[in-house]
Amino acid sequence: MLRDRFGRQATDLRVSLTDRCNLRCQYCMPAEGLAWLPADETLSDVEIIRLIRVAVTRLGVEDVRFTGGEPMIRPGLVDIVASTAALQPRPRIAITTNGLGLEKKAAALRDAGLDRVNVSLDTLRHDRFVEITRRDRLDDVLAGLRAAADAGLTPVKVNAVLLRDINDDEAPDLVAWAVEHGYELRFIEQMPLDAQHSWRRDTMITADEIFERLAARFVLTPSEEQRGSAPAEKFLVDGGPATVGVIASVTRPFCGDCDRVRLTADGQIRNCLFAREESDLRTAMRDGASDDELVRRWQAAVETKRAGHGIDDPSFLQPTRPMSAIGG
Ligand code: 5AD
Ligand code: SF4
Repeated sequence: MLRDRFGRQATDLRVSLTDRCNLRCQYCMPAEGLAWLPADETLSDVEIIRLIRVAVTRLGVEDVRFTGGEPMIRPGLVDIVASTAALQPRPRIAITTNGLGLEKKAAALRDAGLDRVNVSLDTLRHDRFVEITRRDRLDDVLAGLRAAADAGLTPVKVNAVLLRDINDDEAPDLVAWAVEHGYELRFIEQMPLDAQHSWRRDTMITADEIFERLAARFVLTPSEEQRGSAPAEKFLVDGGPATVGVIASVTRPFCGDCDRVRLTADGQIRNCLFAREESDLRTAMRDGASDDELVRRWQAAVETKRAGHGIDDPSFLQPTRPMSAIGG
């Protein structure tokens, strides 16, 4: 098992398959992109599958989520999903994607064993999509969403980040659109994880502001559904059955219930998005470490997980890796 000093157990593994992306969301990356990981430092498909096998068969991981950068651009994705689905006990398998390429791959991914998708989409307006992502691909994302629903990768979840004076007035339109299409929308508070360090506590859109904006058009009532370790607070929209979620990572942290552990594309274990240390399983593996040795190192890495992210502490330091190199 992967237990920390505070008794939390990590059962949800997030695997970043690449730090590269085909969008350039302004709250994530600069327009020119970043210095990508060199190929020789990136885990091979075989190495990734080995680590997922160790996590699932030896360490109690029950959920595996593939992230990026953009995981859909990894050539071996379908095979990695299939190998993960073949493990016993079979984990639940999900992917967080920007939706590009999903139109083509949704059916193959479902056939390989993918259970669900989360698609990132912050706006429904072409001009704003270009402003936020610096690419003109809104229609491809919408086609990807439809393909995911058609393939039965349901419930299809949509993640939206609101940025002040850019798309923050669009919250009710996004909810109306998601309800109409049967997508489960969640708003995520912007976190200090961008490469450019442009996040500001005093200008970020808070959960309270999101509720205020939604209340202008909808009646939200807390959903009875058990929240558990799920980060989203869920609300029924106008009495249901449609719901909307708010992930208030900054203003209402849920670190006490966190069940996550992360593997970066270069084989580092991170016990938190905001961790300041990593544990290098890639070098250990390439030096010939046995499964037992990987188990020990992984357990030691989770053991030292901190109680919380401390974003509101005066001493908070943003992690040196940006979100795109950690995975969401
Ligand atoms: N804060 C909050 N969410 C972010 N995402 C990317 N960067 C940030 C950030 N700084 C979102 C993406 C995607 C998921 C992986 O995380 O929009 O939905
Ligand atoms: Fe790509 Fe996601 Fe970063 Fe946007 S937020 S640039 S989709 S990794």
